[in-house]
Amino acid sequence: MVKQPEFEVQKRAAASAAVAEITDGMLIGLGTGSTAAYAVSEVARRVRDGLAIRAVATSKATAHAAMLAGIEVVELQDFDRIDLAIDGVDEIDGQLRAIKGGGGAMLQEKIVADAADRMIAIADASKRVRQIGARPVPVEVLPMAQALALRRAGELGARAVLRCKEALPFRTDQGNLIIDCHFAVINDPANLADRLARIPGVLGHGLFLSEIDTIYVGVAGGVERCDRP
Ligand code: A5P
Repeated sequence: MVKQPEFEVQKRAAASAAVAEITDGMLIGLGTGSTAAYAVSEVARRVRDGLAIRAVATSKATAHAAMLAGIEVVELQDFDRIDLAIDGVDEIDGQLRAIKGGGGAMLQEKIVADAADRMIAIADASKRVRQIGARPVPVEVLPMAQALALRRAGELGARAVLRCKEALPFRTDQGNLIIDCHFAVINDPANLADRLARIPGVLGHGLFLSEIDTIYVGVAGGVERCDRP
């Protein structure tokens, strides 16, 4: 059998620890990305063992994977709150402030996170940082606002780059564009989040500064948990 790379072992361990918090009757939020995919698999395993839950998904890809795995998926539009969201991060600091959106799903991810009574982030150890900002902050924009948003993000100090995939502009599940904003340093994440959100045509961004309540991080030989004070 091929041995899994250590970071995959860590992602799986973090996902399992988070999924262990799910109890019967919950409406849960399923995140997007490679770490969240482990959570989807683990939820599906528990559903096969008799766990009775329903789930909302943060992307078409996750909805598809969850349904294929036998999880009952419902639309968030019919619910004003959910019990628990579990999702990955691109970077997270000691105050549980994170950058998300490497997979381009941060708009739905933030809606689900906000609807959740509790949000658990799951990650391998490489995602833990002293200061967020080494990774770009993804910003979802209405296509007609592309050029303006690129200029405005540049005025905030970012090297702003339209995200492309296979030489074409990347489209979100909503049909919008993503501008990846590379900052040399993010000294005041709250102020930056506010200023990004105020750019006309911006529908959401990947700064998650207050949504995450708990993180499980896979580490060599186990899982570490950290809660928002
Ligand atoms: C998806 O849009 C993202 O927010 C992901 O949750 C984040 O990029 C983490 O992805 P991985 O688990 O694949 O690293």
